[in-house]
Amino acid sequence: MDGASLLGMAKKYGTPLLVTSEKRIVENCRILRSEFIKYYDNTSFKYAVKTNSNPKLISVIANEGFGADASSVAEISFARYAGVKNSNILFSPNYASVSELKYALDRNIAINFDDIGQFQSLSKYGMPDVVSFRLNPGFGRGEFPGIVTAGPGAKFGMPSDKMSRAYKMAKDGGVKRFGMHMMAGSNVLDPEYFAAITARILDAAGKISKSIGIDFEFIDIGGGLGVPYRPNEKPLDIERTARLVTKVFKEKCGEYGLGEPALMMEPGRYIIADTTVLLGTVNHVKRYSRTFIGTDVGMNILLRPALYNAYHEVAIANRMDSKNLEKASVTGEICENTDMIAKDRMLPRAEGGDIIAVFNSGAYVYGMSSQYNSRPRPAEVLIRSCGKDKLIRRRETTLDLFSTIV
Ligand SMILES: Cc1ncc(COP(=O)(O)O)c(C=O)c1O
Repeated sequence: MDGASLLGMAKKYGTPLLVTSEKRIVENCRILRSEFIKYYDNTSFKYAVKTNSNPKLISVIANEGFGADASSVAEISFARYAGVKNSNILFSPNYASVSELKYALDRNIAINFDDIGQFQSLSKYGMPDVVSFRLNPGFGRGEFPGIVTAGPGAKFGMPSDKMSRAYKMAKDGGVKRFGMHMMAGSNVLDPEYFAAITARILDAAGKISKSIGIDFEFIDIGGGLGVPYRPNEKPLDIERTARLVTKVFKEKCGEYGLGEPALMMEPGRYIIADTTVLLGTVNHVKRYSRTFIGTDVGMNILLRPALYNAYHEVAIANRMDSKNLEKASVTGEICENTDMIAKDRMLPRAEGGDIIAVFNSGAYVYGMSSQYNSRPRPAEVLIRSCGKDKLIRRRETTLDLFSTIV
């Protein structure tokens, strides 16, 4: 990775280990920014901290001009620690407690309210300068049903016909600065889809702006930009996505007289997924009717395959050129039969002591990891743009598992 040997990293830091390329983070940020800004220079980006909340990584992203989208108080703290100013943080929690909302209010952090009720319960304490509500645009898309976050039955946001009451209430309560938000699903590789949902939110914003007489400072179309996980998948055409989204954005702003609000985006996966490789060690291989490569990387570290049946490309890092292949499943140390990070793949014939590499491990990996079966969580290393490696999170120990026992 960027001149550093991943096998060398496994040896130096031990496994399981997440190794991230700073260079790739910077490239991803720059591609996204430049493509959108080329077509609409009032585009603004808030990195979705939930995707990977290591503040050392957030600070690399913040240096590229990104703010932060936080879903919890701790995520606000990580963003602040990484150097993101309160004015560049958006708080988009889901069913958050009043005390969490108040935390954002006390720091005048803009809130994307998930519901009118959330807004009402905070209003007796005051209001942030900027108020936004989350729209359920009526449809969404995602790689798996579990990551579709809009449409009938979704637990997020408000239907468009309930939005105007919310904005009216905010306006009557003295709020003067407004945004509108949506997040309709994750890991989508189709540019046309992003244009279609952008049209939906602008239709909602346009009608509300007219009927209530408010201006929108920003329209936040959420995240969702996908990355290819399978070898046969094509990457999202980001140039086309930017062209189509900004075209519909500008057209609808013109049609409804919305002026030139910021086109806000909250990408997560697109920025960080392909920057990171997860390394593990093969403990033991079992060959009966099926072959299991048993490693120290399981669903406790990489939950996505067990949670959604997600695919991650896996390699035996010290046998990349081997032609001696066999069909095998890669499993971890966890006592669940769903603990398989790759099923029935053609892989080099592995042995104990081999090192596995799991690709696209930057998004929703450490953040979804757990200590299940009392397994401490892995360490994280950053390969700096200069090629030097740096430990950015130490490995947990058994003592860390005791640390909350009173
Ligand atoms: C509110 C919100 N914004 C942004 C994102 C980031 O999504 P993605 O990683 O698909 O870009 C998420 C992810 O679930 C989210 O819930």
